[in-house]
Amino acid sequence: MNAAVRAVVRRGVSLGVQVVGVRHGYAGLIAGDFIDLDISSVGDIIHRGGTVLQTARSDRFMTPEGQREAVEKARAAGIDGMVVIGGDGSFRGAIRLTELGLPAIGVPGTIDNDIYGTDRTIGFDTAVNTCLEAIRKIRDTATSHDRTFVLEVMGRHSGWIALAAGLAGGAESILLPERPLPIEEVVARLKRGVERGKRHSLIIVAEGVGSGFDVGREIRERTGYDTRVTVLGHIQRGGAPTAADAMLASRMGARAVELLVEGRGGLFVGEVDNELVAAPLASVLDRRKEIPEELLDLAEVLAI
Ligand code: F6P
Repeated sequence: MNAAVRAVVRRGVSLGVQVVGVRHGYAGLIAGDFIDLDISSVGDIIHRGGTVLQTARSDRFMTPEGQREAVEKARAAGIDGMVVIGGDGSFRGAIRLTELGLPAIGVPGTIDNDIYGTDRTIGFDTAVNTCLEAIRKIRDTATSHDRTFVLEVMGRHSGWIALAAGLAGGAESILLPERPLPIEEVVARLKRGVERGKRHSLIIVAEGVGSGFDVGREIRERTGYDTRVTVLGHIQRGGAPTAADAMLASRMGARAVELLVEGRGGLFVGEVDNELVAAPLASVLDRRKEIPEELLDLAEVLAI
């Protein structure tokens, strides 16, 4: 997100725009929590996780009065347009701002990669690489101690992180909300592996499927194998961005400002087939970004 903030500021300044940061998301917009940003104020942040502007949930912004208040505060501060970095909830807010006369452009920032209309969201690649690093470290114990490991990764509603990390990390089974794998099948695969002489296994569970601890307990009870569970948790939401994420955020942030300067609003910046695209924000909401069948099939074939 910081790479996106940096790009918004620097592209904006290059176009002659004065840029103001809103701290603490929509709550800060209502409170008028603004900070002037120039090219120096976003120096040395491109490599930092999180967001220097900080973020917060706002119940007040969910109400029509809160939304009007937010627009009034922005207008009073001389703000003519907004770039909103976030996911579904942030985009709904951006639509309301635009409807109330404050043009807003959405930039997709979520590790879950579950926003329709873009191949990738900012943070996804970094989160997957964090998972991959964990998988490789866990493998060391799995192989040395002949153990079965269950690794729970994030993805409340979607299995993108689990699928990408599991494929890249060579997991034996990947449990996704999109294609449920019965525990009997997980156990059968594990047993087939052991019969072939396999002495360790790694199973990735997306949190949307259920608890990694429950999966681990089932495996232990049904097989008697020495099984351990790791829940990666919020470690997946922090850390320095990968090159791919820093690039994506930089491109999307810059394009968002360009669209505002062109007088446009209510749009979303996505990346499709490596090209940036702009689509109406409303067209990407309430739509599920499916994981391609090809990847789901591949995960099964390679898991064996
Ligand atoms: O950003 C979305 C997400 O990563 C989900 O996959 C996860 O369930 C959630 O965030 C957890 O975040 P928190 O518990 O901080 O709300």
